[in-house]
Amino acid sequence: MQWWRDAVVYQVYVRSFTDSDGDGVGDLAGVRARLGYLELLGVDALWLTPFYTSPMADHGYDVADPRDVDPVFGDLAEFDTLLAEAHAHGLKVTIDLVPHHTSTDHEWFRAARDSAPGSPERERYHFRPGRGGGPPNNWRSVFGGPAWTRLSDDEWYLHLFSPDQPDLNWTNPEVWADLEKTVRFWLDRGVDGFRIDAAHAMSKPDGLPDSPAPGVGPDPRFDDDGVHEVLRMVRAVIDHFPGRVATGQICAHDDAAFARYVRTDELHIGLTRRLLEAPFEAAAVRTAIEGSFGAVAGTPAPPSWTLSDHDTPRPVTRYGGGPAGVARARAMALVQLALPGAVFLYNGEELGLPDVDLPDDVRQDPRSRLTGHTDPGRDGCRVPLPWEGGPPGFGFTAGRPWLPIPDDWADRLVADQLEDTASTLSLYRRALELRRSHPGFAGTELEWFGAPAGCLAFRRAGSTLVCALNTGDAAVPLPPGEILLVSGPLDGDLLPPDTAAWLA
Ligand code: NOJ
Repeated sequence: MQWWRDAVVYQVYVRSFTDSDGDGVGDLAGVRARLGYLELLGVDALWLTPFYTSPMADHGYDVADPRDVDPVFGDLAEFDTLLAEAHAHGLKVTIDLVPHHTSTDHEWFRAARDSAPGSPERERYHFRPGRGGGPPNNWRSVFGGPAWTRLSDDEWYLHLFSPDQPDLNWTNPEVWADLEKTVRFWLDRGVDGFRIDAAHAMSKPDGLPDSPAPGVGPDPRFDDDGVHEVLRMVRAVIDHFPGRVATGQICAHDDAAFARYVRTDELHIGLTRRLLEAPFEAAAVRTAIEGSFGAVAGTPAPPSWTLSDHDTPRPVTRYGGGPAGVARARAMALVQLALPGAVFLYNGEELGLPDVDLPDDVRQDPRSRLTGHTDPGRDGCRVPLPWEGGPPGFGFTAGRPWLPIPDDWADRLVADQLEDTASTLSLYRRALELRRSHPGFAGTELEWFGAPAGCLAFRRAGSTLVCALNTGDAAVPLPPGEILLVSGPLDGDLLPPDTAAWLA
């Protein structure tokens, strides 16, 4: 029943995956058309990013109606068909849940804007009078600028993300009741679980105190104790639906704080960014792995692993770009997929895609817009996938893709990589197949081996799979064992730099 403990979950950034109707934006029918591919890839579950009614100020993370599908992505009937067909392909389907904020287009916010200060309509959000002509406190938005926007009647509303994403007031029972309704709505339709957006942010400390100077005391915007009540409510609903999973995006103050999110009655899985934030250096990778195990020690949760997502430059680029970036990303894929716990892959990771350096005038991310493009934002990792053929659509769309796909992605096509046994896609397929079928992947703990400087080697405790990684400058001897898979060519019987191997 706890299929998710060791699952490989594939994040579909719906907008960039496949467009079925030629408008240049990916959609649910597009995902459905690729279920065969996803089954062939060998993942266990999907995580669909928000496809709900939205003006798309943050590409769907600004939700105007959490219980309906935006026409750009399809409709509820299309969602039901996708869900049924995914299940027929043996794929679980989890979906994003965005409880922290709504869109300014949500009927609640439109009513709040049109109502007087102090009205019940405004009580669903955080409205406050200003302070000394400025905002009510010194909080900054995650996307840049103040976390407050002023209305014409001189009240300000709080938004930890963009001004188009007003924060809900989690002391209001109506807000609770509505989330419960949303959770039941999708569980009743048959989804296998949720990825809860900003699961550390719903609750705010009493009085909304100013943030201290950076590094002095905890950030009052996040990780307030009240979030746990909300997560308990979500979990209580989910527990009526056996086999479903609650995963949460968590930025906690420290390990002890993280562990509270994955207690028996809260989230099943907490997402961490440790592996994703580690540079390509064996010591840092080992620290990230040990830290991720440490954060769930003493809790019922498995560790979770992520190398990329829709908010972060892709691994190929983070690790230096070019052939070395690809080699390192392939090596880290073997590290990630050797680890016990839940793995979250981001669409395109399996193709070895880099970030794209887009011109300012095509960038759409609010983070880029709100900083006057001084922050490039996250569009670079959201460029649509190249499936087959050539520009402009590359099989992603029959029209013009919402972000341009670079011409040189012609050498990264899914169609070609499926045929090429040396491709990054073939490496992922083989690794996923071994992870599923090889007995060496039993065991939930790690044992570390001694390794030369710049290298690491570990084994799943009580099992036979050994993973060795070389992030150094010189080739090193391989640990003993039969080679199951290597991320790149060996140097005789040595493991070269920027390479990982699985042995049994
Ligand atoms: C976190 C999501 O991962 C990100 O893409 C989004 O912009 C913010 N939450 C706001 O919903």
